[in-house]
Amino acid sequence: MITEPLMDIKDIIKGRALYNEPMKKHTSFRIGGPAKIWVEPDGIDDLQSLLAAANDNGLAVLITGAGTNLLVSDDGIKGMIISMTSPGLKSIYHDDFKVSVSSTVQISEFLRFLIDHGLGGLEFLAGLPGTVGGAVAMNAGARHYAKKDMQMSVGMLVEKVKTCDFDGNKKIFSKSEIVFNYRSSSLQRLVITEIEFCLRKDDKKKIAWEYGNYLRKRMISQELSLPSAGCVFKNPDNADISAGELIDRCGLKGRRVGGALISQKHANFIVNAGGAMCSDVLALIDIAQNEVKKKFGVGLELEIKVV
Ligand code: EPU
Repeated sequence: MITEPLMDIKDIIKGRALYNEPMKKHTSFRIGGPAKIWVEPDGIDDLQSLLAAANDNGLAVLITGAGTNLLVSDDGIKGMIISMTSPGLKSIYHDDFKVSVSSTVQISEFLRFLIDHGLGGLEFLAGLPGTVGGAVAMNAGARHYAKKDMQMSVGMLVEKVKTCDFDGNKKIFSKSEIVFNYRSSSLQRLVITEIEFCLRKDDKKKIAWEYGNYLRKRMISQELSLPSAGCVFKNPDNADISAGELIDRCGLKGRRVGGALISQKHANFIVNAGGAMCSDVLALIDIAQNEVKKKFGVGLELEIKVV
């Protein structure tokens, strides 16, 4: 239950606090009903105050980055959304090939820094929307642009992660303490505040060239002109065939429910073609899962988070 003191949140933090805030403004899908409380902490003190307020008031907490992998219910969210996106928290610094970055930094901004400083290894993130913290929590990745069987993922280059648990305690995890799996990590029920990567010193032109290859591949094969949450399903385990190809082979490209559409360009993308509701996307998810199961006997697992 939300009690009165919570209504004073604006007074206890430096960052932004918004009430009944439409989540469609904070997700790349441009979908989602109102969050009871949406906050953007402007420092660790803010974050700790917010977590304490949520605990005191029995409010569920959801941590988000830029909301690029998120499908929010049309009914909205009753708890507190802590958005790790504040510009006040952004910092990037490097000591030789070790680079520390705050979780709130946009991936595109981080990659620009890496190219400018001749630091290679994360070029495969080119064109990916979202924050560095979100990418680490989800262990974002891509196939190598030339070697189709080679999977690249952020976790491979993580050295240390600074976090805060939901009770406000800070903890630093070294790489041996973190489990990274395909599109998931053991850092899910924590607030990631800073990440240290171990990269390689390289020629700036070479890094920019690699970056360009990944970006071109993404632009050619993926639907980037309409709002989406990227790939909706994980690629099936031990299958030679991708989720996109399975859905494509079921003839589902272009299938529409309300304002949502299975992309004509890449069948693992559902796009918001205008005014899509969460229920429209869920209906398409259902259709894709049922058709693929019927035709290939494969169960497609969601990659995006549905809340
Ligand atoms: N394909 C089809 N039809 C389609 C889509 C794909 O036949 O509609 C075929 C392609 O021709 C290709 C194969 O499926 O032979 C794989 O497609 P693609 O190279 O596009 O890779 P993917 O497995 O669909 C993965 C990641 C993407 C990442 C790309 C980078 C997953 C679920 N997806 O896609 O990540 O950008 O590799 O190459 O692992 C994301 O995580 O949101 C995401 C988009």
